[in-house]
Amino acid sequence: MLAVDKVSNQQIVLSHNPYQPHGARIVRIFKMVEDNYLFTLRFLDDHLATTFRHQPGQFLMLSLPGTGEAPISISSSPSRPGILELCVRRAGRVTNALYRLKTNAIVGIRGPYGNGFPVRDIAGHDLLLAAGGLGMAPLRSLLWYALDNRDKFNRIILMYGSKTPGDMLFREELVSLVDRSDLTCLLTVDRDPTGSWKNYVGLLPKLFDYTEIDPARTYAAVCGPPVVYKFMLERLLALGFPKDRILMSLERRMKCGVGKCGHCSVGYKYTCLHGPIFTYWDALNLPEMI
Ligand SMILES: Cc1cc2nc3c(=O)[nH]c(=O)nc-3n(C[C@H](O)[C@H](O)[C@H](O)COP(=O)(O)OP(=O)(O)OC[C@H]3O[C@@H](n4cnc5c(N)ncnc54)[C@H](O)[C@@H]3O)c2cc1C
Ligand code: FES
Repeated sequence: MLAVDKVSNQQIVLSHNPYQPHGARIVRIFKMVEDNYLFTLRFLDDHLATTFRHQPGQFLMLSLPGTGEAPISISSSPSRPGILELCVRRAGRVTNALYRLKTNAIVGIRGPYGNGFPVRDIAGHDLLLAAGGLGMAPLRSLLWYALDNRDKFNRIILMYGSKTPGDMLFREELVSLVDRSDLTCLLTVDRDPTGSWKNYVGLLPKLFDYTEIDPARTYAAVCGPPVVYKFMLERLLALGFPKDRILMSLERRMKCGVGKCGHCSVGYKYTCLHGPIFTYWDALNLPEMI
């Protein structure tokens, strides 16, 4: 925005307040799993709705007036602009208040923040996406980005695991991808109390037994709870993955989201600014990152 400086009579640029949220309407609430809902939002400002762009792996600050803010990954792909999808687990103050809202309620959004996945570097390579539980929330954006830009990537492999079929996020959507010929989609559950699960049963790293992966030409994007990192990293390193080709989405408690408050600092890095996507190599050099 431009204004005139009354003293110098020169035009000056008025910077946009980075903490100012924009209003967005909840256009759909979909219960995927108990306490894991998918919220579809659209900015009230039509121009913003059509021009807003993000990178897969970036997050935004979701605010509810009088309650507070929480960082949430953008689960929708930038290749499908106009709406934003957020997969939110009910955890505390902000998310509990969000769960009390109904369709058409207005929330605040600022962002997008963080570095996102290095999609330009990944282009031309194979891409392995490996997620456990809520880890699918940021990886779904990358998955659809890669599928919508299929010619830019070589082989795409998805490995996703949840405790049971009933706990699997985006279950119908992901099961419908299993037969796609341009994607190796491996879905597993730790156990199947229903007896009707038609995909794999077993822990996530077991999925490496069902496909060949060439670490020399593959980027791995990993996201999930700490146990997923522990076991997936073991397997990826044993396969010979270079440490700078293992990408991880890491979370820290955040406040400003823009590298000002220091809440999310790990060593000399701010998770909100230099992350949340770090290579395994970065993580090894930062104290207590994983
Ligand atoms: C980059 C990033 C992306 C994320 N993406 C998603 C996403 O896509 N979906 C999603 O559901 N969540 C996501 N999260 C996690 C989400 O931001 C947190 O769960 C957030 O705390 C929820 O806010 P809240 O106010 O509802 O919960 P809070 O009130 O903050 O409580 C959350 C949990 O933290 C505990 N807690 C509260 N305060 C503290 C404290 N000071 N120290 C330690 N523990 C505390 C609470 O007991 C509770 O268990 C993301 C986090 C980051 C950093
Ligand atoms: S959240 Fe403030 S510096 Fe990262």
